[in-house]
This record gives sequence, structure tokens and C-alpha cells, in this order.
Amino acid sequence: MKPFFATAIAFWTLNFAEGIGFFRKTQDTVKPPERAYILQSNDDGWAELNIRLLNDALIAKGHHVFLCAPAEDKSGWGPKDPIWPEPPIRSKPCHYNSCPADTGENHGFNETRSDLCWVNSYARSAVRIGLRTYAKRHWGEDRWADLVVTGPNVGTNLGHVVQWSSTCQAAIFAAAQDIPAIAFSVADNQHHAWNVQPVPEANRVYAELAAMITQKIIDGGKPYLRYQVFVNVNFPKSDTKNNRCTKVSDFKFIFTRMEETEKKKPDVAWCGTRKLPVEKHVVHRQDGCFVSITPGSIGSRTMGDTGNQKDVLNRLKSILSCLPPEKSS
Ligand SMILES: *[C@@H]1O[C@H](CO)[C@@H](O)[C@H](O)[C@H]1NC(C)=O
Repeated sequence: MKPFFATAIAFWTLNFAEGIGFFRKTQDTVKPPERAYILQSNDDGWAELNIRLLNDALIAKGHHVFLCAPAEDKSGWGPKDPIWPEPPIRSKPCHYNSCPADTGENHGFNETRSDLCWVNSYARSAVRIGLRTYAKRHWGEDRWADLVVTGPNVGTNLGHVVQWSSTCQAAIFAAAQDIPAIAFSVADNQHHAWNVQPVPEANRVYAELAAMITQKIIDGGKPYLRYQVFVNVNFPKSDTKNNRCTKVSDFKFIFTRMEETEKKKPDVAWCGTRKLPVEKHVVHRQDGCFVSITPGSIGSRTMGDTGNQKDVLNRLKSILSCLPPEKSS
């Protein structure tokens, strides 16, 4: 064969191989970060500062985010979600005066951003309707969320409280539809409007922490969580006045379980034991800034499924710390 033809054929073969993805493996090592379709919700209301700051942070990471949440604070209603009748027409303005009165509608959007939606109903309803109707309209009919993220909730949701928290129940609802879900909550009971000035530094920290954990779970690849699994995350308070837990780097991430088990079923092996700390014993500790991260499986209330623990653990390992013994103050 003439050298010219040999080179041409080799060149063509290479291009063809590349075209059919023969070299996909090597290219994948430098693949760009994954852009996920994320539905955001909460139970504190669509115009609560925490959910909006997390919205900014997730968009900044390049994700396709759609926010759909109650028109006002609907905390503490657990899984409430009247499927019929449809949510009633809203006559009052939304909380913090964030939508006009008498819209004649049971839902609405920010006037310049159609990715921010309120529904005149509960958290779980907002996730259900958001997923099935408004997010699809925004993303395109055949789009289904890859991930549902709720919160950060104003106030913790630890242990048995998870049952009553609409923020957690909205995430659990998503998991039941086989959409991976993460619920974030904060040991900070202060509500703020989306447009408060100046923006409290503490709330920025919560949003940054939540976006970072979300990104870690996404980085582990699809499906982001196993079948019917959700993750319950609680942050300690960022206390600027007392200079406690004020920077993202002050926080340590602890892998936890939701409640003590009655049965002596061992947890996944981690930090030298088969017994994970219980989340409520972690977040309120005063000798550090400890974030609890608990995988929950909707099938079991005590969430003791070690298989699900292992998958979430593998995704988060690189950011996790072991809980040190408590120092008395
Ligand atoms: C609606 O979006 C605009 C543009 O981002 C923003 O300035 C405004 O504060 C938002 N209002 C509400 C209630 O979300």
C-alpha cells in the first residue's frame, strides 16, 4: 500500500472509531461535571430565603433547577396532600407579599423567572404537581427530575420528627416515585424573606453546605440514590454572634442513622464500628459543628438497611469525618 493511502485509512479508522464512541472510556476521565435536572421544594414557602439561596447555589453549579413550593409557610403538616379537589384559588398575597392578591389562580410564577413557582397547597402537593406539570412545562414534556432537593428547612428534622416534617415528607414522596431525594434542615429557627438585605451570612453558609453535599451525591453518577432511598441532612446553627460555625470549613460531616435500632442489626462498617451515631446526638453538640447525614429507606422507619447505607457512604466518603468523643464544656 502506498504510504499516503495507509495514512488516510488509519486517519479515517481513528475518526470512525471516535465517532462510534470507541474512545469514550479515555475521554470520560475528563468529562465535564454532570448537569442534573433538580426539582426544589420546601414547606416554609417558596419565598423563604433558605430555598432561594440554595437555588442560586445549584444554578451556579450548572444544574437545571425548577423550584416549586407552597405559597406560604406550610410546616408541620407531614405528608398532607389532598389530591382532590385541586388546590383552591388563592385570594391573599403569598407570604412576604411575594405574589399579588387575587391572581385568580391556585399557582403562579415569578413574573420574570418561570422557573420559580408557587402552589396554593402543601409541600408534598407542590412536589407532586411541580414534577408532573410545571417542571415538565419548563424543561420539556419528556423531562423527569433526576433529583428532588427539599429545604434547607427552618428548624431541624431529626429522628421521629421526620414523620411530621413536610420538608422530609416531600422528599420521601419523591423517593416513593423512585426519584432520589435529599431533605436539608437547619438548627436555626429564624425565618427570612427571599429579598432580605443584607443577606445573613449564616444562610449563605447553609446553602453552600447543601449545594456541596448535593454535588457529591450527583458526582457518584446515576442513579444518584438507590431505589426508594432519600437522605436526611441536618446542619447545626451557624452562630455569627458567638462566632461559632461561621465558615463552611468549620463544619464536619458525620454519617448517621435516624434512630436507635431495637433489633441489634449492625450498620455498615464505618469509623471502626458497625454502629453509626444517632443523628439527634450529633447536630446539637456544642464541642464542634457536626452535620448529620442519614440515608433513609422509605420501606423502613428506622432506616437500618445497610445496603443503602453503603451506597450513600461510598458517594460521600471523601467529605466525611468520624465523630470524636464528646468533650465536656
Ligand atoms: C422574581 O425574580 C426577579 C428576577 O430574578 C427578582 O428580582 C424578584 O425578587 C423575584 N421575586 C420573587 C417574589 O421571587
